[in-house]
Amino acid sequence: MRLSTRALRAHGGVTVETLRWEDGTLYILDQTVLPRKVNYLAVKDYREVIQAIRRLAVRGAPAIGVAAAYAMVLAALEFAREGAGNFLARLEAAAGEIGKARPTAVNLDWAIQRQLAVARQKGAGAPQEIVERLLSEAAAIFTADKDGNKAIGVHGAALLSRGAAVLTHCNAGGLATSGYGTALGVIRAAYAAGKIKMVYAGETRPLLQGARLTAFELQQDGIPVTLITDSMAGYLMAQKGLDAVIVGADRIAANGDVANKIGTYSLAVLAKYHGVPFYVAAPFSTVDPAMPQGAGIPIEERGADEVTHFAGEPVAAPGTAVWNPAFDLTPGELVTAIITERGVIHPPYKFGG
Ligand code: MRU
Repeated sequence: MRLSTRALRAHGGVTVETLRWEDGTLYILDQTVLPRKVNYLAVKDYREVIQAIRRLAVRGAPAIGVAAAYAMVLAALEFAREGAGNFLARLEAAAGEIGKARPTAVNLDWAIQRQLAVARQKGAGAPQEIVERLLSEAAAIFTADKDGNKAIGVHGAALLSRGAAVLTHCNAGGLATSGYGTALGVIRAAYAAGKIKMVYAGETRPLLQGARLTAFELQQDGIPVTLITDSMAGYLMAQKGLDAVIVGADRIAANGDVANKIGTYSLAVLAKYHGVPFYVAAPFSTVDPAMPQGAGIPIEERGADEVTHFAGEPVAAPGTAVWNPAFDLTPGELVTAIITERGVIHPPYKFGG
């Protein structure tokens, strides 16, 4: 961990930026190498944004949405530069490609649809003008996400009492958003209000977002964090007593079913058994009112090597069969409340209908 400490010091305890747009380039923090290295990818081609989303260099539902919005800007810049005609048709085709980068987080399609609506607006003007409009829409999506996270933080912190011990899973922090975070936004706001005694971070196998990203983020902010392996959660609840589980979401169905990082469902079941409130913190861009229930949400399945290998080293016999769903579904009935930028929503959940 010597390198990680260096990375932390280099950033003086200030949370690193997930994404930054500067002079026609999207700078993406490469989260695959955190916390060992703080490295930015300078991206000028929308196809590279797709690759970055696929390999989780940028990840977390809201951050994926923002990256997709800027991918649309990069595509529009390219097609405007080439000026061969069919600008809108080419942009729509690019939108289709970007939309396939990952299937579960609805924020991806939500951001693309917002950009398509801008491009299709009556009187949108010449391609160069559309590029400018797409750029300001992407900036608006970025800023609204960050502001929304702060509001989520305020609403969520009010649910916690002083001296709270909370468990979070995966990374729903500044790194998964434009900044501040959803689940970690609640934790940040609660910590600022003097309410947090300890945050337990589940390591989140197989890709270790909890160990690599959440523990890193909380350390940077000086928030007390204890890392556990995923299999320790039940014993943690039984032995230490926990005041809340707080997680993010990749998609919330109209009935409140939640798709989130694999392992979330197990935590919700454990929380129910132990009488621990189970909160989901997410912006409205994560709600899919057109999806009646969780069963319809596409769950991404990723490569076997993520499970058969650990830190690049094989840990299973060659040829071992693997099932590797990246997300799971938590029934809305296990969710105590959903914390959004508009306020806290209690069951029965009914979005959009
Ligand atoms: O595969 P990942 O790292 O993109 O999964 C991320 C999560 O599951 C997060 O909890 C979710 O996207 C919410 S982020 C605010």
